[in-house]
Amino acid sequence: MMRAVVAVGVLMLGATAVIAQQDQLKDTQTMMKGNGKNAGALSAIVKGEKPYDQATVDAALAQFDDTAKKLPKLFPASLKGKPFDGDYQPSDKIWQDKAGFDEHIASFAKAVSDAKGKIKDTDTLKAELGLIGKQCGGCHETYRVKKT
Ligand code: HEC
Repeated sequence: MMRAVVAVGVLMLGATAVIAQQDQLKDTQTMMKGNGKNAGALSAIVKGEKPYDQATVDAALAQFDDTAKKLPKLFPASLKGKPFDGDYQPSDKIWQDKAGFDEHIASFAKAVSDAKGKIKDTDTLKAELGLIGKQCGGCHETYRVKKT
């Protein structure tokens, strides 16, 4: 009897951990997808496909800022080796080279905070988006893997 109770308890603990992990995975992906969407909206302005819009710029910067703050927690050890939906997978290097990954987070955070208050028109957006985009790409180059 006691053994059955313990077994159920262990099962429930396991299930809770799995759910927490899936939530974490979803949060991480949602965050990155949001970055992609915002970066796309900004690049449409830079390319002249859309008129300059301060609200779009401010919303994107706020979301990048939020990402920068959350990034240190977006890839806990529990996500290592977990299958992500879609075309991309975090690289194991995130966990193997934690210091390098943290450096990328810090330089991304700096690029975003430096851009705040500087973007006022398409030209300033173009300059700042270039700097921020370099940070996105720099991290992806090393720490993101395209699924084949
Ligand atoms: C410090 C590292 C880092 C930074 C900075 C970063 N990313 Fe990512 N990004 C990742 C990793 C790792 C993945 C793979 C995991 C995933 O798909 O969620 C990813 C995935 C993505 C994806 C694919 C999401 C999906 O599942 O379809 C997009 C789009 C994306 N990032 C956009 C951006 C943009 C735009 C920026 C900059 C504004 C940015 N990222 C900044 C690490 C980073």
